[in-house]
Amino acid sequence: MCGIVGYIGGKEAQSILISGLKRLEYRGYDSAGIVTIDKKAKTTLLRAKGKVAELDSKVATHQTSDTAGIGHTRWATHGEPNKRNAHPHHVGDIYLVHNGIIENYQDLKRTLAKHDYTFKSDTDSEVLTALIDYLYKDASSLLEAVSGALKMVVGAYGIALFSVKNPDEIIIARNGSPLIVGVAEDEVFIASDASALVGYTDRVIYLHDGEIGVCTREGIQLYDVDTQVVEAKVEKLELDLQSIQKEGFDHFLLKEIYDQPNSLRSTLSGRINPQTNSVKLGGLNMSDDELRDVRNIMIIGCGTAYYAGMMAGYFIEQFTDDVSVRSEIASELRYRSFHVPDNTVALIVSQSGETADTLACLEELKRRGVKCLGVVNAVGSTIAREVDGGVYVHVGAEISVASTKAFTSQVAAVTMFGLMVARAKGVSSKDLNTYINELDMLPGEIEAVLERSAGEIQQIAKKYAKYDHALYVGRDTHYPIALEGALKLKEVSYIQAEGYAAGELKHGPIALIDDRFFEVCYLQDNWLYEKTQSNIIEMNTRGAHAIVITDTDKRIAAEEVIRIKTKLELLTPLVFNVVSQLLAYYIAVARGNDVDQPRNLAKSVTVE
Ligand code: F6R
Repeated sequence: MCGIVGYIGGKEAQSILISGLKRLEYRGYDSAGIVTIDKKAKTTLLRAKGKVAELDSKVATHQTSDTAGIGHTRWATHGEPNKRNAHPHHVGDIYLVHNGIIENYQDLKRTLAKHDYTFKSDTDSEVLTALIDYLYKDASSLLEAVSGALKMVVGAYGIALFSVKNPDEIIIARNGSPLIVGVAEDEVFIASDASALVGYTDRVIYLHDGEIGVCTREGIQLYDVDTQVVEAKVEKLELDLQSIQKEGFDHFLLKEIYDQPNSLRSTLSGRINPQTNSVKLGGLNMSDDELRDVRNIMIIGCGTAYYAGMMAGYFIEQFTDDVSVRSEIASELRYRSFHVPDNTVALIVSQSGETADTLACLEELKRRGVKCLGVVNAVGSTIAREVDGGVYVHVGAEISVASTKAFTSQVAAVTMFGLMVARAKGVSSKDLNTYINELDMLPGEIEAVLERSAGEIQQIAKKYAKYDHALYVGRDTHYPIALEGALKLKEVSYIQAEGYAAGELKHGPIALIDDRFFEVCYLQDNWLYEKTQSNIIEMNTRGAHAIVITDTDKRIAAEEVIRIKTKLELLTPLVFNVVSQLLAYYIAVARGNDVDQPRNLAKSVTVE
């Protein structure tokens, strides 16, 4: 949600800021802006509505050789997306960019108005800028003014700012909205997301909540909110340039769908071994006795991460009868009354590791003394740092707003955790082996689908791109896949799509079927084959335009049948899901949509 960049060093800042913003654009793309400052404190502020490309064209006609500046790409919360509300904000001596939400900004605005401040935008961020400017008038330093302001605000923020009184210093601060600093010889890079730093430096400092950083060309000094010095820990950035480039694919979404065999191999690598029948997740910080004692698993996430947890939960309950699994939507759980039975472990699933609702659940569960494990992709992210232990999914950067490779690996990681619990509880080696073998085969099976079926799916997608609505239906382990398939379609194609348990059709949704709808049905050749087939027949009878995704050669009455050959049985839904991902992608492309940056969305929802 919004991207922040900053630079202070010896190089020309505008191009570094623009290149960082382009990499962060997936975090928000309503408007963008940069401001740079020269040694004599002359500033150049450029802002534009829309994508970073709009801003870039302005830079072409306003080039500077300034070597310090800050920038922002916005996902609007307060105030509509337009140039007036775009960051950086400028009040008095201060220029500032902000991610997050200042909840008490109305109160602060009223107070500042009494001190003759007027406001040009509708944003909470401009109010914070004014507050710092106001306090700076009587403060001994900008650091002191920032510290004073942050003590007065309620809400979440990641900020970067400077004052025209000191062109050699950029101040940053974080509370609930990520900020990373890249350090190199005589220069400092600032970003809200590691991808903006790749290629510039691999030495990074992750800011913690409550920390303020003063960046100069000599480096960064961290302080707490009371301006006491804090020691900074420099870490190695584990992200390569390859993972943030399209590598010949038309879109990141397609690249990331095709990444899946390899990204999944990274998730599984060193963790399962079919020969020795072993499964081992290194970072759980749980003994075998503790794993044996687990009776309940709560899996918490939002959107795709929630569906991944749900999917894995179905698997876990298949292979051990001594554990109950419940999957929870983080934005719901955090505000409702809920009970956590004894012997519960909570799995916190998040690609970005920064999702505000998921993080809030983690905090609440920790407060209640529940053991919390992270299933996270972004190394060093807030959730990864706050959990008691966990597993990184290691899929590399996921740039497309719609999540694909993270989903597959989240399911695999949670399933491996379930297998560790089951093994500690004494599940038979034969049962364990079935799952471990299937996990081991999964990357190859996904690879085969990508090789054999993509062309066919592309053709089918062209035919269905004209529809306005879609129903995705499946039973048992195909129900979470139906939910995820529908989410993917609606996100990138803007076709209204709903996922349903196939058995629920008769309880309402079947009333929808008409020529404006098409239906995607997951039909696996297993013990629910006949039941699901009956549901498809019921839909056909009502004039459905059904696309059936199946692993069988049997005759199936449907408008389209996508046949997948797979050696899998238990994990087949994950292979079918790749078909839904491709279907959503090709339909969105056929409709001419911006598939990597769908309207109204942004990657990493760091606000409620
Ligand atoms: C859907 C999608 C979102 C995310 C959700 C959680 O394609 O990407 O639904 O899955 O916002 O994000 P993370 O996993 O970063 O917590």
